Amino acid sequence: MKTQNFITLVQQIAQTLRLDYQIAQFGERSYPLFYGNTVLLNLGALLQQQDIRGKALIVSHPELRDLFGDQTEQSLRKSGYTVEWTTFPAGERQKNLATVSRLYDASAKARIDKNSAIIALGGGVVQDITNFLAATYMRGVPFIQIPTTVLSQADTGIGGCAIDHPTGKSLIGQFYQPRLVLMDSSVLKTLPESEVTNGLAEIINKVMCLGGMKTDSINEDIQKIKAGDWGMLSDYIKLSNKIKLGIIEQDETGSRGPRLLLCWGHTITHALEKSLDYSVSHGWALGIGMYGAAILSHQLGYLDRNRVKELRRTIENTGLPTQLPSNIKTDELIKYMTLDQKVEGSKKRFVLLRDFGDAFVSDPISDKQIEDCLTELSR
Ligand SMILES: NC(=O)c1ccc[n+]([C@@H]2O[C@H](COP(=O)([O-])OP(=O)(O)OC[C@H]3O[C@@H](n4cnc5c(N)ncnc54)[C@H](O)[C@@H]3O)[C@@H](O)[C@H]2O)c1
Ligand SMILES: [Zn+2]
Repeated sequence: MKTQNFITLVQQIAQTLRLDYQIAQFGERSYPLFYGNTVLLNLGALLQQQDIRGKALIVSHPELRDLFGDQTEQSLRKSGYTVEWTTFPAGERQKNLATVSRLYDASAKARIDKNSAIIALGGGVVQDITNFLAATYMRGVPFIQIPTTVLSQADTGIGGCAIDHPTGKSLIGQFYQPRLVLMDSSVLKTLPESEVTNGLAEIINKVMCLGGMKTDSINEDIQKIKAGDWGMLSDYIKLSNKIKLGIIEQDETGSRGPRLLLCWGHTITHALEKSLDYSVSHGWALGIGMYGAAILSHQLGYLDRNRVKELRRTIENTGLPTQLPSNIKTDELIKYMTLDQKVEGSKKRFVLLRDFGDAFVSDPISDKQIEDCLTELSR
């Protein structure tokens, strides 16, 4: 077990660098999440605390290197690190083994070893793919996460990763813990409004649906965030991670235990993303996926109709969709659901709600029941 010394050290670093922090408790593999608007400037100092020596390979997209490359590199060089970059184009379609293979080549060329760090600077796509790279290159090298979208700060920053296979989304992955997760609120300011909206989908998913936060307060706060209240956004990102950590700390890898609850809203979402060939953002699809799961929870007699309406209002007020696009074939969507993590044999299960804050994994659900839900979701 990591000891009290680890917690004391994290507290000291946070105090010295004036950062907020959370700790992800995974025994020997526990790690801190640091929050603030000077996190990137302190990157070099934070790596030194991790006993990382010599080299850092930053994985990112070209446009993010243009935006944040200078400050990231300066901070690392000031602390004596040699910095290498490898970038790949943005987009969900890149989250596959072909990209990972190119990143292995870049890691070998940069002579990354077990004392170096691989740093993920980017949104959820960069986080997931770099997590996979760091976990498997030399059977595991130190991994640092710097999520740069609201969605990735509120979710992908923690707890394992997966990349896509041609047959379905997020089918290949593992659970490999980072050394550090660094949430710099200043990087979010270059995001287009649509990306903030996408990230709010994941926040609604965790804070309202899984965490049970009252709809009235979240609706008001979302409007403040959309009007530019960055402090409020930061608070919600922390809250979202607190809820996610509370779940994954109980069940780091489980496919049956509490961790499955994090799939809330994602069964329809993943099938929809696949069906649209990943041409839409994850947050956009999640708006529809959460509403669909709420409809199903109601149709099966668990969730009050008023709660379904409340969720719809919150999703729509955020600027996210709640209706299946008319070109979606529901039989195709149901077919893609057989690739979901909760499927046993051919039996499909969903995470359903009895109320906000009260999710559970369902018994097998028939295609007819899913069809009825999708019919309502198309209206
Ligand atoms: N592993 C997990 O637990 C988990 C959880 C949720 C989502 N995900 C995955 O995350 C991915 C979605 O992540 P995402 O929404 O961050 O998308 P993304 O990574 O594709 O980023 C969206 C866009 O924003 C740009 N961008 C990133 N940071 C920016 C910044 N600071 N300023 C300007 N532009 C910036 C990117 O270049 C990209 O074009 C999906 O693949 C999803 O499956 C994983
Ligand atoms: Zn998600």
